[in-house]
Amino acid sequence: MASTQSDIPTAVRTPRAAFQARRNRLLSRIERRAVLLAGAPRARNFPANRFPFRAESHFLYLIGDSIPDAVLVLDPQSGAVLYAHKPDPDDAIWHGPSPSLAELSDSLGVSVRPLSELPDLGDADALPTHDGGSAARLLGRPVGDTLGDRQLADVLIELRLRHDEAAVAQLRAAAAVTVAAHRTGMAATPGCRFEYHVRAAMEAEIMGHAMACSYNPIVTVRGEILHNETYDNPIGDTDLILADVGAETREGWAGDVTRVWPAGGRFSSTQRALYDVVLKAERAAIDAVAPGVRYRDVHHIAGRELISGLCELGILRGDPDELFHRGVGAVFFPHGVGHLLGLDVHDMEDLGDRAGYAAGRARATSARDRYLRLDRDLQPGMAVTIEPGFYAIEGLLTPDALGDRADAIDRNVLKRFSDVRGIRIEDDVLVTQTGHEVLTDGAPKTSSEVERAVAGG
Ligand code: GLY
Ligand code: MN
Ligand code: MN
Repeated sequence: MASTQSDIPTAVRTPRAAFQARRNRLLSRIERRAVLLAGAPRARNFPANRFPFRAESHFLYLIGDSIPDAVLVLDPQSGAVLYAHKPDPDDAIWHGPSPSLAELSDSLGVSVRPLSELPDLGDADALPTHDGGSAARLLGRPVGDTLGDRQLADVLIELRLRHDEAAVAQLRAAAAVTVAAHRTGMAATPGCRFEYHVRAAMEAEIMGHAMACSYNPIVTVRGEILHNETYDNPIGDTDLILADVGAETREGWAGDVTRVWPAGGRFSSTQRALYDVVLKAERAAIDAVAPGVRYRDVHHIAGRELISGLCELGILRGDPDELFHRGVGAVFFPHGVGHLLGLDVHDMEDLGDRAGYAAGRARATSARDRYLRLDRDLQPGMAVTIEPGFYAIEGLLTPDALGDRADAIDRNVLKRFSDVRGIRIEDDVLVTQTGHEVLTDGAPKTSSEVERAVAGG
């Protein structure tokens, strides 16, 4: 059952003035008309049976409400106009009273016109939508690739990279509910026989705060499968449960947290030892988060710390520095240390690496860095995740996959840790003027805190 945590500000709403300020900032930075689409609802099977509708994130940033098919036109000369469906009288039968366009205009603080009055937008800049191409259909051309489209993307990135006060309030609300979901998942585990039972307890907590999941939850005893989205495994007493679950506010802002806990309530000595190695790497990476710091360096701090810990346990052998340079860490930590967080759980990844990578920087091809999603210098107002991990992935431990890194791994020692498949510890971190704030630090994290939470404490 979802708990009732009245101290969680679940209903926090962004004031109308904050959306107006965002639209005005965008208008002051563009020279040509820009079009931002909410996108179209998708049918599950027949049109009246739809998937839950969530508008495109750029639209949500500027309007805050998922209005199906709505089109926001920003004209640097004449300002913002939102085009939306006029309520159909029959809507009253199925959906109850709908606001008139005048009422919508009043509540959003923007001029609203019926979609039937949408002007010709052939020369406007736009971004692709994820609903099967409604942007391309509307503009009559492929969207996203012209110079103007790219300039529009860059302006939105500039605005969305550093969160304003209202956005931070949303992220805090998402973080609070995300933390509650993890506590609930831990406490529910002793009564759960399958992964889906734990998942259900966590989602109930999120739903109980009128939020949704910000991505498909990962709740699994097979934590080494990084994007495991199945929930059917039985839970054994000696298993570790890895839960990567986040809440999303009504306005679309995301939380993204991973915790790992022992299904039977107590970590084994080998599980605890590896858990502490990952925790130390996570803490070192979080400690490094501050304005002006290059995020790739944070990734490397986590990677070095992990290698040192694995050397101390005897799983790796050799000089930690040399192992780091040879990319040996990627055998056990094959992903980046985190990503931007905002309206999207991987914020603005709809624009590829344009948002995550500073101009002049590009993804490396090395095993160590190729999955790093963010390589910018951190600035106050950015939110990032920090999420190092340790995974025993059979496919990365074959002689072929290891190549000349095989000598660095002591297979006999590794075997002793066979009760660990995957451990990741993930928090949401806001960059402040002087350093950082961990938005999700209410989630139990040390091995003893986690054990207490599984025991219901
Ligand atoms: N939950 C997706 C991620 O952690 O990146
Ligand atoms: Mn995650
Ligand atoms: Mn993440």
